[in-house]
Amino acid sequence: MTRFTPLLALSILAVQTVAFPQYQSLGGLSERELADILPRFTTVTPPSPPGPSNDTSVRLVNDAAHPYVPPRNGDMRGPCPGLNTLASHGYLPHNGIVTPTQIINAVQDGFGMDNSLAIQLTYSTMLVDGNPLTNLMSIGGKSPLTGPDPPKPAIVGGVDTHAVLEGDASMTRGDFFFGDNHSFNQTLFNELVAFSNRFGGGNYNLTVATEYRFYRIQQSIAENPTFSFISPRILTAYGEAAFTFIFFVDGRKADGQLSMEAALGFFRDGRMPDDFHRADGSKTSNLVDNSVDAIFAAHPVQPGGNNGTVNSYTLDPNSAGINDTCKGYTDFVNITVRSLYPNPQGALRNNLNKNLDLFFLHVAGQCSQVFPYGQ
Ligand code: HEM
Ligand SMILES: *[C@@H]1O[C@H](CO)[C@@H](O)[C@H](O)[C@H]1NC(C)=O
Ligand SMILES: *[C@@H]1O[C@H](CO)[C@@H](O)[C@H](O)[C@H]1NC(C)=O
Ligand SMILES: *[C@@H]1O[C@H](CO)[C@@H](O)[C@H](O)[C@H]1NC(C)=O
Ligand SMILES: *[C@@H]1O[C@H](CO)[C@@H](O)[C@H](O)[C@H]1NC(C)=O
Ligand SMILES: *[C@@H]1O[C@H](CO)[C@@H](O)[C@H](O)[C@H]1NC(C)=O
Ligand SMILES: *[C@@H]1O[C@H](CO)[C@@H](O)[C@H](O)[C@H]1NC(C)=O
Ligand SMILES: *[C@@H]1O[C@H](CO)[C@@H](O)[C@H](O)[C@H]1NC(C)=O
Repeated sequence: MTRFTPLLALSILAVQTVAFPQYQSLGGLSERELADILPRFTTVTPPSPPGPSNDTSVRLVNDAAHPYVPPRNGDMRGPCPGLNTLASHGYLPHNGIVTPTQIINAVQDGFGMDNSLAIQLTYSTMLVDGNPLTNLMSIGGKSPLTGPDPPKPAIVGGVDTHAVLEGDASMTRGDFFFGDNHSFNQTLFNELVAFSNRFGGGNYNLTVATEYRFYRIQQSIAENPTFSFISPRILTAYGEAAFTFIFFVDGRKADGQLSMEAALGFFRDGRMPDDFHRADGSKTSNLVDNSVDAIFAAHPVQPGGNNGTVNSYTLDPNSAGINDTCKGYTDFVNITVRSLYPNPQGALRNNLNKNLDLFFLHVAGQCSQVFPYGQ
């Protein structure tokens, strides 16, 4: 089965801008900041995404044009060490306010992620965490720099937003129930180190990933009464455990063994090691798919959650499992996206439909498209 499939078709969409209907509060910004950002707050029709990179070679990415610059006050950083790193090395804007096109280019150029996976991750996130009118998203918390919000219940909360794609049982971030759900947590990182010592000879590898992933799930079941582990979180949880030894290992080595020094740099600081070379972009898609299968198969946990008390993990028969690609896609569109945008109108509806078309690309070969807002 192909969970992360190659793209079959890319539709070409025109870029156009029209006047933004109305401004809402942009509290907290100085006049100079406002003058800088207001011109960006036009309604932007989402353009077609970049295609696959024509250069997937292993090459230096921590280069002179992309030095590490730590985030300044106000720069957005969040639960994804991949995106944080790309922003701190200038593959994404340093302030962490990004467009889908920028993300797709950055993950391809900086890490060798394949186009289909980049599109799947980017548009799923954009649909729930981004501003569909301005086509901007924060890679951390909510920011006025993504422009005036569409009507509630839309959140436009950035990548930190819990219970949509950010979720429980992260490797180095705490569960929502315990408060901070997106910052690097040294205690959890120490546990990852302990597992790497025990199962990886001091490195994080696939064996460590299988054990630590399972351990973090058991820990959440035992400690978090609101633990939730259903689609789409269940798939991203296994995916991210694999990303760590695929994308954070130097592409010249590519042996799936990540040193703790490099891991700390990525997870805590969003920083590439000196002389870091990206992975071979022609290989990462298969590596991710096969690794997810292996990590899951070692300790399969089916979708479910606690019921308000600890140690009450109950399977959720309504949730897609990690192999139910089309149900996962359909529920995401028909339930998750629609819960945030029950009845969009005008430019909002048009832009959501564009983003839904672009999100559908990654399953176009396998699933039928769902049209919650008409065609
Ligand atoms: C393509 C765009 C991407 C998006 C939209 C995205 C989004 C996210 C989100 C929402 C999370 C939080 C999930 C959680 O609660 O743990 C996350 C975590 C993570 N991401 Fe990304 N990501 C992207 C690309 C990448 C890339 C390229 C890498 C690696 C180079 C990466 C590595 C990770 C890892 C390792 C975690 C887990 C962190 C942890 O569990 O402590 N991501 N990502
Ligand atoms: C998912 O599919 C893979 C390969 O196609 C298989 O190895 C694995 O057992 C499946 N997992 C589940 C939960 O069915
Ligand atoms: C790759 O694309 C770039 C930019 O579109 C172009 O300048 C370059 O010639 C292409 N390289 C190859 C090998 O096709
Ligand atoms: C994630 O944690 C932050 C505080 O650390 C909180 O402000 C935010 O609301 C949380 N996510 C979600 C929905 O609540
Ligand atoms: C980090 O995680 C540990 C273990 O779950 C928790 O006890 C601690 O409160 C967290 N620290 C912060 C700063 O959130
Ligand atoms: C992980 O490292 C340990 C210790 O070196 C080794 O026994 C194990 O085979 C490695 N696993 C993988 C998948 O490389
Ligand atoms: C939650 O699960 C526990 C353990 O399975 C069970 O004893 C309890 O009755 C359940 N509570 C609710 C509210 O369903
Ligand atoms: C989407 O949800 C609506 C209303 O809940 C339902 O009638 C429809 O059958 C669902 N469509 C799909 C494809 O699941």
